[in-house]
Amino acid sequence: MCGFSLPEVDARLSDRISDSDAAFFREHGVLLMKNVIAPEELAVVKEESMVLVEKAMDPELDDPDYKYATHPSTDARVPFRIDYLTHKMQSARVLLAHPFILKSVEILCGRNFIPTWESKVFKLAGTGAAVNWHRDAGPTLPAEAPVFFADFYLDDADESTALRAIPGSQKLSRTDAMNRINALNEAEQFAGDDIVILPMKAGDVLFHNVHTLHGSPAASSALRRVIYFAFRSIEVEKITSPNMPAFIPAKQRVLAACLQARANAPYIHGEAPFSYSPDPEWLPELGDLSDVKYHIPHLEL
Ligand SMILES: [Fe+2]
Repeated sequence: MCGFSLPEVDARLSDRISDSDAAFFREHGVLLMKNVIAPEELAVVKEESMVLVEKAMDPELDDPDYKYATHPSTDARVPFRIDYLTHKMQSARVLLAHPFILKSVEILCGRNFIPTWESKVFKLAGTGAAVNWHRDAGPTLPAEAPVFFADFYLDDADESTALRAIPGSQKLSRTDAMNRINALNEAEQFAGDDIVILPMKAGDVLFHNVHTLHGSPAASSALRRVIYFAFRSIEVEKITSPNMPAFIPAKQRVLAACLQARANAPYIHGEAPFSYSPDPEWLPELGDLSDVKYHIPHLEL
């Protein structure tokens, strides 16, 4: 892509993104951060993740949290997504509390933020279908809302199969975005002047605004797993889900339990933990965290 270069963000060199990184993300809707997950943590997450992938491949499994697609050439039922990860993986709780990510989320969302969606998406070796161009959210979110995913890569994604995105497209009107999405998908186009390719190494994390246009070509490469955690400010949550006020403290308890899990994880060393400190009106009543409910169904956006 002409005239576009991502800032070099290396999580080993700082404890959070810089103000200029934050400005870049607000302008372009994508930000790549290298070396976020340390090797020891990555190994644990990958191992636990594999257990879920294997469970997803069980043809008898009947669990709505496990999502499937039909492979275009073989008609096989192929698993591609698992929801409510903190409910299923202890290492996902630890990962959600990653201090570099949460300190960076706080810069982008303000101190009153909550985690919302959580999923793992994977392309099985040799069966990775293309992901058509799309936005992750519909028009109900305010366009300027800092609503975004942190995409934690557990495996490498090389140039040929990596995510494609259109920087700045989070600002397009719904009509312009839909026109562009339809044109790209009709042409099966994954390269072009304003399209950036985002190769990732295992352990890297990408922030992508839910309105940034993105997609990826078919992959016949090795297994690729990405864990997605979404974040938004409480103010935005109140606008988009006014009928679900209980969601906010429930997710704050999840976050608190995840911070506790990270503090107790034997494979996490030498980091300054994130300290969650929303405005007094949003301070949650945490109570006993041993009974935290992680499986919290959320509204459709
Ligand atoms: Fe997406």
